[in-house]
Amino acid sequence: MSLIKTIEFDFLGDERGSLISLEENKNIPFDIKRVYYIFGTEQGVARGFHAHKNLQQVAICVKGSCRFILDNGKCRESIVLDSPSVGLFIGNNKWREMHDFSDDCVLVVLASDYYDEADYIRDYDEFLKEIRKANV
Ligand code: TYD
Repeated sequence: MSLIKTIEFDFLGDERGSLISLEENKNIPFDIKRVYYIFGTEQGVARGFHAHKNLQQVAICVKGSCRFILDNGKCRESIVLDSPSVGLFIGNNKWREMHDFSDDCVLVVLASDYYDEADYIRDYDEFLKEIRKANV
């Protein structure tokens, strides 16, 4: 089964332009507690390098492009996000890295919970231990 799960959002545009609507528990598969966005990322910078114990997220590149790597401890898969109509679902216990940000990239992330540093796993070896525990 692929690690990469994308959600296609409907375009609600008309002759005036485009519009996309995101609704919790409808086209976003969880209660949305937090929204953040990443922009102005310097060239050559990579971000992420962590997993979350419980958090679920959907990442949408509403402008420009960037590349995500998802890793479940067994395999790594990569996807370029470059469309405001595609969301990348990132479940819990998935190591993520973000690379190749375009200068104009605006990455919007919807999250199922408030910011909590205790939910982060920032060490890859710790991540491997955590997912082994979770899979027992
Ligand atoms: P971090 O999650 O490490 O960013 P990335 O995954 O993109 O590399 O977050 C960077 C900093 O911002 C870190 O000090 C935590 C803080 N932060 C918040 O305070 N609230 C938030 O919602 C997020 C995502 C980060």
